[in-house]
Amino acid sequence: MPYRCRGQRVRCQLWRSMPGTSMGMTMGIMSFIWSLVVALMTATVSAGDEAALLAFKAQVSDAGSLASWNSSAGFCSWEGVMCSRWRPSRVVELSLDGRGLAGALSPALGNLSFLRTLNLSFNRLHGEIPASLGRLRRLLKLDLSDNSFSGKIPVNLSSCISMTKLRLRNNQLGGRIPAELGEKLTSLAVISLRNNSFTGLIPPSLGNLSHLQYLDLTTNQLVGSIPSSLGSNHNMQQFGISRNNISGMLPPSLYNWSSLEVFSVALNMLYGSIPDDIGSKFAKLEHLGLGGNHFTGTIPSSISNISSLVFLNLVQNGFSGYVPPTLGKLGALQHLNLGANNLEANDNKGWEFITSLANCSQLQLLVLASNYFGGQLPGSIVNLSTTLEGLYLMHNRIFGSIPVDIGNLVGLQILVIANTSIDGVIPESIGKLGNLIELGLYNNSLSGFIPPSLGNLSRLNSFFASIGNLEGPIPTSLGELKNLYALDLSMNYHLNGSIPREIFKLHDLSYILDLSYNSLSGPLPNEVGSLSNLNQLALSGNQLSGKIPDSLQNCIVLELHE
Ligand SMILES: *[C@@H]1O[C@H](CO)[C@@H](O)[C@H](O)[C@H]1NC(C)=O
Ligand SMILES: *[C@@H]1O[C@H](CO)[C@@H](O)[C@H](O)[C@H]1NC(C)=O
Ligand SMILES: *[C@@H]1O[C@H](CO)[C@@H](O)[C@H](O)[C@H]1NC(C)=O
Ligand SMILES: *[C@@H]1O[C@H](CO)[C@@H](O)[C@H](O)[C@H]1NC(C)=O
Ligand SMILES: *[C@@H]1O[C@H](CO)[C@@H](O)[C@H](O)[C@H]1NC(C)=O
Ligand SMILES: *[C@@H]1O[C@H](CO)[C@@H](O)[C@H](O)[C@H]1NC(C)=O
Ligand SMILES: *[C@@H]1O[C@H](CO)[C@@H](O)[C@H](O)[C@H]1NC(C)=O
Ligand SMILES: *[C@@H]1O[C@H](CO)[C@@H](O)[C@H](O)[C@H]1NC(C)=O
Ligand SMILES: *[C@@H]1O[C@H](CO)[C@@H](O)[C@H](O)[C@H]1NC(C)=O
Ligand SMILES: *[C@@H]1O[C@H](CO)[C@@H](O)[C@H](O)[C@H]1NC(C)=O
Ligand SMILES: *[C@@H]1O[C@H](CO)[C@@H](O)[C@H](O)[C@H]1NC(C)=O
Ligand SMILES: *[C@@H]1O[C@H](CO)[C@@H](O)[C@H](O)[C@H]1NC(C)=O
Repeated sequence: MPYRCRGQRVRCQLWRSMPGTSMGMTMGIMSFIWSLVVALMTATVSAGDEAALLAFKAQVSDAGSLASWNSSAGFCSWEGVMCSRWRPSRVVELSLDGRGLAGALSPALGNLSFLRTLNLSFNRLHGEIPASLGRLRRLLKLDLSDNSFSGKIPVNLSSCISMTKLRLRNNQLGGRIPAELGEKLTSLAVISLRNNSFTGLIPPSLGNLSHLQYLDLTTNQLVGSIPSSLGSNHNMQQFGISRNNISGMLPPSLYNWSSLEVFSVALNMLYGSIPDDIGSKFAKLEHLGLGGNHFTGTIPSSISNISSLVFLNLVQNGFSGYVPPTLGKLGALQHLNLGANNLEANDNKGWEFITSLANCSQLQLLVLASNYFGGQLPGSIVNLSTTLEGLYLMHNRIFGSIPVDIGNLVGLQILVIANTSIDGVIPESIGKLGNLIELGLYNNSLSGFIPPSLGNLSRLNSFFASIGNLEGPIPTSLGELKNLYALDLSMNYHLNGSIPREIFKLHDLSYILDLSYNSLSGPLPNEVGSLSNLNQLALSGNQLSGKIPDSLQNCIVLELHE
């Protein structure tokens, strides 16, 4: 009996083939034969699914994770296998994510014709994706992410007409993204092809997927422009094409994505400007990543109306003009990166946004580096949230001094005020920034003494304060910085006195110790020999005396004299 027969049809045939028997007897024989037929069908079909599973197992090495795949129990109870409730011997799910499987994928999986979920993510599978998977008409979810699959996406996958989720990220797949996916898989809601080597264009046909919510093509080698047809995906929530070679302008149709939460197009070759009315287009936007493109124009003030915005990254573009003073209305904002643009501020205008940002009680990162911010640094910067972890102000034309209350920003882990025209002293309150890991104050016009309170920054890894007018002795308290691995106080010319021996006892100081071009004097303490892990020691341009111990000869750069 051909096992492909459906139950009903088989029963009818049997009924017709037994004329002339009495009804009772018929029913008795019938039910007997029927159970035989069912048993037979089940056996034949299960053998099909079991054989396919065994063929799959035969091609992978599993490090014991498939130990339950043995004959002591039916295959429906094998690890990762789930069978249908209605057809007890048909596999509907095979989920073996993160089981340490290695090897190739058997084409026999295409025989599991009732399969709805195939999740083999987070393994070490390699080779091509078998085209036979295209036979899985009932497949809803295919997840082969985080493996080493190579080759192309088989066009046959476009026959899996029920598919809602296709996840292939973190593999080595290449070639073009088949246009057929957009033409045939009309139920697709999730496509993740992130971190592969796909080439060619983003297929315009993807615009036909009316259920599409999540499209992640980040980190591939895609070219061409964003097809304007994508604007018809009215359910789009997350769109990511960062790290490709996509060019052109953002098609205006994309502003029809009213459910959009994530828009990430960083590191491409896109240009154009942000429309003035963006604030009324993306009412649910949380993540706007435009960094590393060629965008120009001003930052529209309507952006302050997107109250859901958490992440705003415009770094490395050609944005110009003033930062909207209303930005502080973004109460959920955590990450604001405006670095490497042509934004400006001066004593009359352009700094208001700093005062307004004090409203952003969850702000963690503020990057203003490499712009045309000028004039006095606003004192209100000390009123930013204590959640702030990173503050980058380097490569600007900022004047004025570091506010005395900078120590209010107790959450800071990284503070870089460098290559500006800032002068004045390093405020004593800096010693309150107990979470600081990196402090960059180089290439400014800072003067006065290095505050001894710096010794309180017990987590500090690096302190760079070269090129300035710092004077007086190097505080002994720097010897308390047990995690310090880089210290550069070079070219202040006026730091004087002897080098505190405590500094030479810092075990972690392994990257650089540069005290060159100052007015340091006296003999080098014996402890200098403890710095045997140091990569670079520079003491030239001082009035030091004494001998350098042999133990320092591992130093890659050792500058002692002019
Ligand atoms: C898969 O099905 C094909 C025919 O449909 C059959 O020839 C093949 O033997 C099957 N493979 C396994 C492993 O069951
Ligand atoms: C066979 O699988 C069962 C569970 O189905 C397991 O308890 C048993 O240890 C397995 N036998 C071997 C030899 O691995
Ligand atoms: C597959 O398994 C991974 C890891 O457990 C999980 O994160 C992912 O959501 C699953 N994929 C699908 C499509 O359900
Ligand atoms: C791929 O699809 C084509 C056309 O539908 C079919 O002829 C072919 O057998 C399929 N390949 C496999 C391996 O299933
Ligand atoms: C990208 O995928 C490769 C495997 O192809 C993986 O080794 C790497 O960690 C992935 N990169 C990221 C950032 O996930
Ligand atoms: C979208 O589908 C329609 C018909 O369903 C078709 O005519 C059109 O070519 C498709 N568009 C794309 C971009 O594939
Ligand atoms: C991106 O495309 C341009 C031409 O459009 C090409 O010159 C450039 O090399 C490409 N860059 C990468 C990283 O592929
Ligand atoms: C936005 O969608 C509306 C209908 O929902 C449509 O009329 C309009 O043309 C679309 N705009 C763009 C720019 O595609
Ligand atoms: C922000 O939204 C308010 C209220 O919806 C509106 O009155 C205002 O014009 C918007 N601001 C901008 C700059 O678009
Ligand atoms: C700060 O937030 C309050 C309410 O959350 C708002 O009324 C006020 O306008 C905001 N201030 C600034 C400067 O954005
Ligand atoms: C910081 O905020 C406090 C309280 O809102 C205010 O009194 C003070 O003037 C602000 N400081 C600066 C420098 O703006
Ligand atoms: C210092 O900043 C200016 C802009 O203010 C910039 O042109 C210059 O390249 C920067 N210097 C260094 C060494 O980064």
